[in-house]
Amino acid sequence: DVSAAATGPLAGKKVVVTAGGTREPLDPVRYLTNHSSGKMGFAIATAARQAGAEVTLIAANPQITPPEGIQLVKVETAAELLAAVKAQFKNADILVMAAAVADYRPAEVAKKKIKKTADNQTMSLELVRNPDILKEISTIKQANQIVVGFAAETNDLIANAEKKIKSKNLDLIVANDVSQAGIGFNADDNQVTFLFADGRQIKTTIESKSKVASQLIDIISNKLQK
Ligand code: CTP
Ligand code: CA
Repeated sequence: DVSAAATGPLAGKKVVVTAGGTREPLDPVRYLTNHSSGKMGFAIATAARQAGAEVTLIAANPQITPPEGIQLVKVETAAELLAAVKAQFKNADILVMAAAVADYRPAEVAKKKIKKTADNQTMSLELVRNPDILKEISTIKQANQIVVGFAAETNDLIANAEKKIKSKNLDLIVANDVSQAGIGFNADDNQVTFLFADGRQIKTTIESKSKVASQLIDIISNKLQK
């Protein structure tokens, strides 16, 4: 029972975890999104709770049922996620951004359902950039706050993750190869490389998302003790 936990390495700490994939509306019936299920973020929130933390889970359109004993904040769009993360980060000790945030959103959201027309065989959508939530957080981050990001990559995993840990000013990044079926997006298992700001790397085996999550929480707990 995760709701009973009050002791453990993260007792007295507030952990904010984001999960799921944002939806960017196009009209009242359509949206752009990605394959994120929310499983990885939910596993991290559960592991943090089991380690004794007070946990807030900000969930973007999760495809699974949220764990119990955790404060749940539901959002849809990247803009809503940004607002929720900013509000929760103020008094947080740890932020883990596992959510898959849409990088772009439709420039305009049509008030009425967009109709196809007989003469238009193709259609173009104009998209505009969403804010980078981790970059915005890096401008308000205090020295005693730990911020963890994910890097979802199909290629050049470590090189791309190294760029992201720097550009987003992270303490740790979880590099996730999403090119292989059975791990990563929407799967029950995962295989990741934990990459530290000092260049240190720890690669896991293919294992359940809950095992990956408890390793991440162990690493964060050890960091806090230093
Ligand atoms: N992220 C974010 N805000 C965004 C996009 C991503 O905070 N607008 C976060 C994700 O939650 C993740 C990390 O940044 O923790 C890396 O996300 P990823 O999509 O891998 O990287 P991007 O910076 O968006 O770069 P790209 O998709 O071009 O590789
Ligand atoms: Ca992205």
